[in-house]
Amino acid sequence: MDLRVPLLLIHGFPHDRALWRPQVEALRDIARPIAPDLRGFGDAGTAADTMTMTDFAADLKALLDSMRINKAVVCGLSMGGYVALAFLAKYPDMVQGLVLCNTRPGADSDEARKGRQATAKRALEEGVPAIAKDVFGKMISERTRSTRPDIASNVLTMMERQRPQGVASAARGMAARPDRTPMLPGITVPTLIITGSEDRLIPVSESEAMHAAIPGSELVVVPGAGHLPNLEDAETFNNVLRLFLLKVGRRKAAQQLA
Ligand code: MLT
Repeated sequence: MDLRVPLLLIHGFPHDRALWRPQVEALRDIARPIAPDLRGFGDAGTAADTMTMTDFAADLKALLDSMRINKAVVCGLSMGGYVALAFLAKYPDMVQGLVLCNTRPGADSDEARKGRQATAKRALEEGVPAIAKDVFGKMISERTRSTRPDIASNVLTMMERQRPQGVASAARGMAARPDRTPMLPGITVPTLIITGSEDRLIPVSESEAMHAAIPGSELVVVPGAGHLPNLEDAETFNNVLRLFLLKVGRRKAAQQLA
């Protein structure tokens, strides 16, 4: 019997499961990492015209069901965090712990929604490399770009290889997401919030606000990292996540003994 904590790792936009390679490799001794491609990304099947965050969450529930996993630590980065919150809203009993990386609970502004529609159109008309080129400057910090060209190049390649249809449908889905802020004070599972001090896509203040709103949550800001601290400083990120997983595991054992 596999006693490791199932760890569901949900990638961001426009990424795929390769985002989580350092975590899958480093944490297998204590967790059972599950890092799928969301529908429309990587090797996953074709997406509907619009994939809402709840649609992605339903796919992930079906995946866990197919693996006979009834509870997991759910960890999402950026868009993956929007999906993690949608998962918690829909399937609260399946969440053993929550890890929110470089994400925010709020809905898009009207202006941001228009931007999403433009992104969707551009992905379909000009291709994903055009989108990747635009966001790349904000995905990782200046420091990572200058000191770790290998990471920079892997991130760009990962974004460029995504399919236009998948990118367009997720962009439309993000535009349609509701405000999850009201659910934060009611979160009762152990919650870890991680971000990078240099995140220019979702500022640290968003993580601080989530930390203030979620009872008992922990906040870790990885110094010098941008929007992808799990790649930019995998060692720090993995150490923090490892401690959290151990804590969740101990809590589960205590509950079983009680
Ligand atoms: C992501 O990394 O998933 C995106 O920055 C999320 C977003 O565009 O809101």
